Order: sequence, then C-alpha cells, then structure tokens
Amino acid sequence: MFRRQIQQAAPLRALVFAACAALFAAQVSYADSIRQHLLLDAAWRFHLGDEWPDALHRENSGTGSGPASEKFSDSYWRTVNLPHDWAVELPFDQGADGGHGFKALGVKYPTNSVAWYRRTFELPEADRGNRIWLTFDGVMHDATVWVNGWCVRRHEGGYYPFREDITDVAHFGGSNTVAVRVDATQSEGWFYEGAGIYRHVWLDQTAPVAIAPDGIFVCPSFKDNMPSDQAEIRVEANLLNTLPHASQVAVACQIIPPIGQAPSAFSESIELKSESPGAMRMESSVASPVLWSPESPKLYQLVTTVSVAGKVVDQVTTSFGIRTVGFDPTNGFLLNGKHYVICGTCNHQDHAGVGAAIPDALQEFRVKKLNEFGCNAIRTSHNPPTPELLDACDRVGMLVMDESRLMGSDTGNMQKWDDQIRRDRNHPSVAIWSIANEQFMVQDTPQAGNVARTVQEHAERLDPSRPVTYASPEDDVFRGINSVIEVRGWNYHYGPQMDRYHAEHPSQPNVGTEQASVVGTRGIYTNDHDRGYVAAYDTVWPGWTTTAESWWSFFAGRQWLSGAFVWTGFDYRGEPTPYWWPCISSHFGVLDTCGYPKDVFYYYKSWWTTNMVLHLLPHWNWPGSEGQEILVEAFSNCKRVELFLNNASLGVQEMNPNSKLSWRVKYAPGILSAKGYDSVGSLLAETKVETTGDATQIKLTSDRKTINADGADVAALTVSALDAQGRLVPTAQNKINFNIEGAGRLLGVGNGDPSCHEPDTFIPTVPMRHIAVSDWRWRLAKIPHNSGIVPEYADDFDDLGWNKLTAKTSAGELTIKAPDTTAVYRSHFILTDEDLKGDAAQICFSGCDDEGWYFVNDQFIGESHDWQAQPIFDIKKFIRVGDNVVAVGVNNGVGQGGLNPNVTVTTIGHASVPAWSRSLFNGLAQVIVQSTRSDGEIKLTATSEGLAPAICTVQANPVVLRQAVR
Ligand code: GAL
Repeated sequence: MFRRQIQQAAPLRALVFAACAALFAAQVSYADSIRQHLLLDAAWRFHLGDEWPDALHRENSGTGSGPASEKFSDSYWRTVNLPHDWAVELPFDQGADGGHGFKALGVKYPTNSVAWYRRTFELPEADRGNRIWLTFDGVMHDATVWVNGWCVRRHEGGYYPFREDITDVAHFGGSNTVAVRVDATQSEGWFYEGAGIYRHVWLDQTAPVAIAPDGIFVCPSFKDNMPSDQAEIRVEANLLNTLPHASQVAVACQIIPPIGQAPSAFSESIELKSESPGAMRMESSVASPVLWSPESPKLYQLVTTVSVAGKVVDQVTTSFGIRTVGFDPTNGFLLNGKHYVICGTCNHQDHAGVGAAIPDALQEFRVKKLNEFGCNAIRTSHNPPTPELLDACDRVGMLVMDESRLMGSDTGNMQKWDDQIRRDRNHPSVAIWSIANEQFMVQDTPQAGNVARTVQEHAERLDPSRPVTYASPEDDVFRGINSVIEVRGWNYHYGPQMDRYHAEHPSQPNVGTEQASVVGTRGIYTNDHDRGYVAAYDTVWPGWTTTAESWWSFFAGRQWLSGAFVWTGFDYRGEPTPYWWPCISSHFGVLDTCGYPKDVFYYYKSWWTTNMVLHLLPHWNWPGSEGQEILVEAFSNCKRVELFLNNASLGVQEMNPNSKLSWRVKYAPGILSAKGYDSVGSLLAETKVETTGDATQIKLTSDRKTINADGADVAALTVSALDAQGRLVPTAQNKINFNIEGAGRLLGVGNGDPSCHEPDTFIPTVPMRHIAVSDWRWRLAKIPHNSGIVPEYADDFDDLGWNKLTAKTSAGELTIKAPDTTAVYRSHFILTDEDLKGDAAQICFSGCDDEGWYFVNDQFIGESHDWQAQPIFDIKKFIRVGDNVVAVGVNNGVGQGGLNPNVTVTTIGHASVPAWSRSLFNGLAQVIVQSTRSDGEIKLTATSEGLAPAICTVQANPVVLRQAVR
C-alpha cells in the first residue's frame, strides 16, 4: 500500500465513520480498504526538447530507449510539480499563431513543442497481487507513456483523462519509472491551450476485486422531476474482478447527509464471473432531502464498500447533491422545479501566471470571482473541464454546462464522450451536457443530425437526469443538429429570429449557449490600435456579437430562453480581438486574466444580483484633457442616478431596467461622484472617482491570510500603486520587483494587460553545452576487456591507423565472441575553460552491445552490461581543458555487437534564478504564491524605483497531507 511513501490522511473521514458506525450494517473503517488513491504530482523531472526521436521502438516490447528507458539518467533535468504548463514559459513571437496567444509553440517551433517528463516511485513487495492504475487527468496535447520501458499508452487529445492498469509491468519490491513524451505541436482549439501535464496524475491501487474506475453513479430523482419530501436514490456500481475465479461480492452503501440527519444504509450482493466486470443497481430513498442549489450548495456523501467473503476490499466515497434540473419550452430552465435564470459565463481554462496549469485553490478563486457579479453558471467552453473545477462548483455553488471537445459517433469520440459523462455525472453542479460548439461546416446536414442523435442518446443512457444541448451559431434554422437536439442552444443571433424559431418549434426548450462577445480592456477608455487596447464602455464588439446591455435586455424579458452564457467570464490568452499583435490575449472577459473586474462587471452585478450597485466610469485622471468632453457612464440598479462634478449636480437620470446611464462631462480634475435613489427619491448609494496624484507607494494584499502548507495551495496577492493620500492610481504602470522568503514560492505573475509580453513565470536557466563525440576509431585487441591498465585505453595511445567506425549497434561490427578478445573504441572531444567551470559534465552513450568498460583520460568511469541501455556517466572529475580522450572496451556475447557511435558530452553550468518582476497595468498586478510543505510565514516583498515598498505575509499552516506518492 505504498506505506513508505505516503502519509495517511483521513482522520476527518474516520470521525464521520465513527459517528455513523452504529447505523452502518457492514461496519468498516477506511484502513480496511486496500484502495489507495495517491496524487502523483510532486517532483517530476522535465526536459523541453526531444533529442530522442527513436525512443519508441515499435519492433519490440518493453524496449523504450532514451528517456523512455528505465536506465536513462535524468539527473540534470529540471524538477517540476504538476500541474505544469510549459507554454507559459515560452516567449511570445509575432510569427507564431495569434489565435493561440503568439507563443513560440507549434509546427514552426519544433524544439519548443515536444517535451519529456519522468518520475520514479517505489512499490513494496507486499503489494504484489493488487492492481496498480496510472491516471492522467489531462495532458496537452499528445502523450506517449512508458512504464519501466514498456509503452503502455499513446493518447491523443489534451482534454480527456486516460488511465492504464500497469500491474503487469510494475516492479513490486523495486523502483518504477514513468516516462511521458508530450507532443504539443498540434492544437485542438483555436485559443490558447497550454502544453504539458497540466492536470493531476494519480496512482491508484486496488484489490483484484474492486470498484471500476469512475464506477459509481448516484442518481437522485423525484417523481415528475419535482422535489418533494422523499428523493429516490439510484446507485449504480460497476465492479471489476481480475481473479481467475468467480467472486461473490457484497456492496454496502451508506448515505451521509450534509447536516444533522442520520445516515442511511442499504446493500446488495452480486456474483462476478472470473476476470470480468459486473454492474449492479441499488435503489433507496432519502427523506426530507436537503436540496443543492448555487445559493445553498449542500452535498451528500455516498460511501460504497465492497466486501468479499466478509473482508472489505474496496471503499469509495462519492459526493453528490440532491436537486432536479430541467428545461421547459415555456418556462425555460428549472432548478428544483422552479424557474431559474441562468446568468452564465463561458470560460476557457487559463489564468494569469500559470496558463492552463491551474492549482486547485485557483479553481475555487476563479469560481468565487464569477459569483461576485452574480454569475451562477459556467460553460466549460469548448472542452471537458478539469475535475477540480467541478469540485469547486459543487462546493461553492455554480451550475455547469459540461461541453465535449469534438462531436463524433465514431468509436474514439464515443469513448471519450462516455468517459466524460461517467467521470462528471455525480457532480450536482453539472446541469446540462453540451455535445459541441459551432460545427459550421456540417451542422445543417442530415449526417450531423445522425451523429448528434447518437451522441445525445448515449448521454441519455448514461445519465437520464440531465438534458443535452448544442451551441448552435445559427438563427431560425431547424435542420441537422438543431432538429434533433433536446435543448436548442443559441450562440448569438438574438432578436426576432429567436421569437420566430420559438413560435415555429414551441415544444423545443432553449438556452443561450453563448452571447455578448463584447470587448473591453480593463481601465482603458479609448481604442488604441497600436497597443491593441479597446475602450471598456461596453460599446465595442466584433461584427457577429453585441453589447452586454443589448443581449441581456433581450433575454431578460423572455423566460423561455432560460438565460445564457456570456462570452466570457475571464479574459484568456489567444484570440486577440479586434486587434492583432502586439495584443496576445482576448478582452472578451467580464474579468481580466487575473480576475480583476472590468467596468462591465458592474453592469452584470446590477442586473444579476440583488445587491445595491452604483459604479461610475471612467477613472478621473485625464491631465491635458481639461475642458474636453468625456463620456461618463453609470452602471447601477438604483431607480435614479444623479451625477456630480466637484459637488455640482450634472442632473438626475432615470434608470430603465437592464440598462445603463451616460453623460458627456467637460473634464476638470477633482471628484466625479454619483448618488443613487429609489423611485421616491430616497438615497440608496453613493460613489465617487477622484483625480489622484502620482504613485508614491506600493500596496500588497492577499486574497487569503492563511493557506495550507501542502505544497499545492496558493494565495493570489494583489499589487497596487497608491498616491500620497492612499488612493489607487488607475493609470500606474510601474515595474514592480518581487522577493519571497519563508515557506512559499512564486508560481506566476500577471497584470491583465492583453498586450504585455513580460514573462508570467521566471524559471531557473541552466547553461548546457552538448558536444557530439565523433570520429570514432576501433580495432580488436587481445587484451582483458575489463582492465584499465592496458595501453589501448591510455590517452596518449596512437590510434590513427585504426578502423573508422560507422556502424550502429543494430548491425554491429563485432562478431567475435572470444572472452579474451576486446574491441577497443577511441575518440576525442575538446573542452573549454568555461566547460570546466560548470557544475557537472556527463557523457552519454546511445548503446553498447553487449558489455562495455568506459575510460576518460585514462581513468575508469564505469561499465555497462545491458545492450538496450544508454549508459550515462558523470565525468566532471576526469575532464580537462583542451583535448580529452574517451576509450571503450567492448565484449560481444550474442549476434553482432559493438558501440553505437552516437555519443554526446554535456557540460552543465550554474543554474541562475532570475529576479521576479511585473509591471502594473492600470494600477494592478497579481502574484500567485504557492506553499511548500513547510509550515510558517511566507513573506512577499514588493519594491519599485521611486515607490515606498510593501510587504505582505501569508501564513502556511500545517495540514494533514493529501495521500500522495512522495
Ligand atoms: C464564438 C466561438 C468562441 C469564440 C468567440 C469569439 O463564435 O464559439 O470560441 O471564438 O466566437 O467571439
């Protein structure tokens, strides 16, 4: 059970079990279960580049070479923790694909587009007999995975999980090596996607009889889909028996309510045939159910325990919620039987500083940011989400439209769709499945209709509790996909065509799958083509879209439309619109890439929440514009708003529902303020924007004062610049330097500037020089092969008359198998002063068939006895400036052998860690700080020339660590 590597968690869970034990028929404790679900995120070795194009040996099993081989030494590779996105680390390049964010990645950048990850772990001998599973939640983009040199998986596609049962090739009682070659040359989406192992990796261990991966489905329901005082609970358990004989299996379920109520229990048994899966269904009920909703996200737990012959062999806890969802043609979306307006946002999966590799805590941060302006639903455009995003939505309260990447009824796409539904269907946040987005080329064809029907029916089979939609970019068209889809999705095209369509197809429910696409840059109030900025007045939109005010006013008056999803909640890398380079990010977001609100945030907050909102824009720092007219707007849900400049009223205006107010104001520095009133003139709210002085000081604040000392948790710190009176300077662009001390590390920095080309992360650089060792000469000698005291190995031996070496190991030049006859190979390499000053030097051989003894400058450096291995030796202490001599004695055993002349010397210089910095963008920047596994204070210092520095501390508190391979 990986006992040496893990720290046991679960005291909380143990407490819950203890409390319930009396009621639970098959009394168990977690420790009885063989299952271990271990995170395999920490301390991977990473190398950008692929110097091993033939690592995949298709001719034979278990013979991965280069990093795919267990024998490979990755000692000079960088150590990274997952999730990891190497695209973030790459430079921007105007010649790169702008849709993907101008990162130097893809076909034009082969050396940046393939990378390797390696990780070793121990398996105790005592674990033999159990099953070992390796699961990748998502690798961008194509992954080839080797375990102990065996190629166990080739997986295409960056958004779907994949897992393998690696038991057969595991080393029990020894070390195991996972090597992953990731190829991010091709893309799937038209937006930034990242590169690398950007989601979690898991190592699971189960008994031979166990719950199948994603094998539990708990499906609460009510009669007529209308909540009442009794919820029916259907549990489906999918089991695996890998034993060579049939097994009688008992499955016990316990439902633990969110608060107060007593747990309930039920059980069944099943006979599983030898080496076969099996599925069983159980029915139960929950009285007086506590309903889940975004406003009250209450979760139940289902504990499923599997026993064979009275012994517990597996136990899995599944979170679920009791609620109903439905789409009605007249009443729109129904949550728990009542009309509920979807105030949604579409979102891609990247964040400032970290790209696609979003730590779990940042998922929650992002969900809460969306909640702040009343967003109650996320569409995971255009791909299946990271599971931890769904966990955050379940916990925090956020509905989800769970979208597939590619629609297809072929085996490959159906398998991915199946995996997605099985993985996500227990999450109460998931309210609807989306089979695809904007299939322009085919959507109206009968074939697309056929495919959509097949895909939809499969969803209905796996999950009868949720409807299915398609994000259709069409107006009143009822052909192909639209004619078969359960809920008609609307990407744009609001207006009379929607009403027409609804009248013509009155029995088909509707939802706004994608609306708005208004563009605006945070804190910018004039369009600036050269810098790629767009005014944030909610007035700029690409031709196919419209403003927040227009689309929402239309939807708000039509209950049958169910509400909609704004394109987008957060800005994201790629799709710079309407301008191109130097702009590298989109500006569609209500929030920028860091999560800082743009002005339109207050438009949505006004009409999507019941909070009192009164917001004025723009800022009031316009030196040089004195006397010129400036457009001033107010976003508010007050009935009337009065505007003042330096205390002089500029008039009261009535606010129509779902709209905004505007004034033209002659600029004078000072205070622009507003008062909001109700319909009878009572004051409800006041706000102001002031002309500030220049920035004099930095301010640092953290979203959290304490985080978990688990090496994964993060805090998002805001850096701002204040004037002498402590007011945020909305135009400050100062460059800020960061220094971190104590129990934390810097993970990434950002500022929401869609045209900023500064690095998001600062990685250590290690200078390396690779020297090809060529011009090998060889001859046979009657010398003992394993002794250093023969002249042929000496560095001054004259080998000029020897044979030149051209052959490779696969057809070696050696046929002699006499034990006293050795083939001696010799070559030279030249090193400089600089090479000798480095931290390390290695010589790497591509193969030696069958056995080799290696010498550098007359000194023995090591030996190899495996013709498949690529021996690597540390030679730092044997090398010198100028000419160096390498000699290898080879002894052949079977067939033809010899030395592969593809040999490289690598000299490795001192690692340098650059200083972290980031410029403010319109007064703000963000720093993401991650805990280490040490508890204590994390201290971040921010300095900038001419500004008073700031310090912020975050406390990293000890926690019970998540179960993980250490
Ligand atoms: C939509 C598309 C989105 C995004 C958006 C930009 O048509 O579904 O992925 O490209 O346009 O406005």
